[in-house]
Amino acid sequence: MVKASDFKGKDVLSMRDYGRKEIDFILSEATKMVKVAEKPSTLCSGKVLAVVFFEPSTRTRLSFETAMLRLGGGVTGFSDPSASSVKKGETLEDTIRTVECYADIIAMRHPETDSSERAAAAASVPILNGGSGSGEHPTQALLDLHTMKYAKGDIDGLKIGLCGDLLYGRTTHSLALALNHFDVELYLISPKELAMKEDIRRDLKMKVNEGTDLAKVIPKLDVLYDTRIQKERFTDPTKYEELKNAYIIDPVMVKKGKKNLVLMHPLPRVNEITTDVDSMPNAWYFRQVKHGVYVRMALIALALGAVK
Ligand code: NCD
Repeated sequence: MVKASDFKGKDVLSMRDYGRKEIDFILSEATKMVKVAEKPSTLCSGKVLAVVFFEPSTRTRLSFETAMLRLGGGVTGFSDPSASSVKKGETLEDTIRTVECYADIIAMRHPETDSSERAAAAASVPILNGGSGSGEHPTQALLDLHTMKYAKGDIDGLKIGLCGDLLYGRTTHSLALALNHFDVELYLISPKELAMKEDIRRDLKMKVNEGTDLAKVIPKLDVLYDTRIQKERFTDPTKYEELKNAYIIDPVMVKKGKKNLVLMHPLPRVNEITTDVDSMPNAWYFRQVKHGVYVRMALIALALGAVK
């Protein structure tokens, strides 16, 4: 039996560290947070969250901060490393050892894939991985699952498409690993050059269908999880130019899908979903953002031992 105390003092680094029981437990704690968020809470009063963000972020950082504020705790940190001692050449390990003197828990985003493991090895407080290069983004996967469950009632039985940049898109890596624990069929839709990262692909245990043609696959799907082509990870800018418009989802494309297709996206979008899709009932990507606060409230409260 999974208990709240199992998560106390623990890092959140990779979806590989969670089984179905742990995922279900976190999702149910997140659902309890919907009520907690409605009025001032003291669950984490006296505790401080540090956000240490070495890469751009809107949703992940703000939702971690909002989550801690809603739990009654405080927030410190930086989101512009060029204004911190990192600029002077400080190592990640030294930065983390310093930040933990100010905070009880650290949410971090960093361009290197092994960054959260390195931070966790240096830290004595829990590290929450808010995105590690083209590696993983586990808290996003949990909020994606929470959204899917809310939208569809159940995740088991769904046909789920992951579309876009599956090579560099860390959200798709963590989500695919998480979906391994559910009874789902997965459709991977990407340009050949951006096919699912091999070390994730080989570990997928569910039925997986791979292809490049979204129009062909979309009628089969219950959920379509679209992603941005990750410009910043390309070494060859001409390759990005070639691939950036690989998939453009417009109302015509959405209408090829089932009537109740759930269209998700971790955001930010660039041009891969046209804005005239936003008013369609299938568009879940802005509603998805809200779930990030509940899930991160649950993760912070669990790691700090604030829920029984
Ligand atoms: C994603 C990320 O940073 O990996 N954004 C997010 O956290 N919601 C997706 C992206 O940048 O494309």
